[in-house]
Amino acid sequence: MKINANFNERVVINTNEMSWTPSPMPGVDRKMLDRIGEEIARATSLVRYAPNSHFSAHTHGGGEEFLVLEGEFNDAAGCYPAGTYVRNPLGSSHAPWAGAEGAVIFVKLHQFDLQDASHCVIQTREQAWYQGMVPGLKVMPLHEFGAEHVALVKWAPNTRFNPHQHWGGEEILVLEGVFCDEHGVYPAGSWLRSPHLSKHQPFTGPEGALIYVKTGHLGDLIR
Ligand SMILES: [Fe+2]
Ligand SMILES: [Fe+2]
Repeated sequence: MKINANFNERVVINTNEMSWTPSPMPGVDRKMLDRIGEEIARATSLVRYAPNSHFSAHTHGGGEEFLVLEGEFNDAAGCYPAGTYVRNPLGSSHAPWAGAEGAVIFVKLHQFDLQDASHCVIQTREQAWYQGMVPGLKVMPLHEFGAEHVALVKWAPNTRFNPHQHWGGEEILVLEGVFCDEHGVYPAGSWLRSPHLSKHQPFTGPEGALIYVKTGHLGDLIR
């Protein structure tokens, strides 16, 4: 199966307009954003767990990265309420489940650099923000390895960033508000993947925005 598998193409999806499709596990549905492979895949997805549903034990052959968007997600190592960012490195395994409210997670599978063995759990709702490169921008770094950088970025209303080019591409999930650039307007729930050497000048309107952003992981770097 291949979904949005040409990483040289720009992709914009309003995930609110996609319907959930069932996974092999009862109570677990997903929206596939990009994918190369079948059930074991290089994949980027939103995954929705019904209240008290669980997934079978599995090993992360290429690593697993997720951000809990709603509800509460759990495994034997801990409890991950909404806002938790987790990285489970190559070879890690677990059998996760959702709490009584269910959970929605944004998850990226099989995309770790082979040398990136770090495990991390970050409660983003309790972390400090740092001043960004322009007024109105606040940044919370989540992970760095090689050329890859992951952060949450909070945009105050009516913030304008500098024009820039994405070395190794850029991937964004809009978590709150409305994110904009000269190519479009992206409300909460939008997922954007911009290829290596793409350019834009992003900004926000009166709503401001909160985004998850990963850079440096696309183009020739695709594994
Ligand atoms: Fe997993
Ligand atoms: Fe950008």
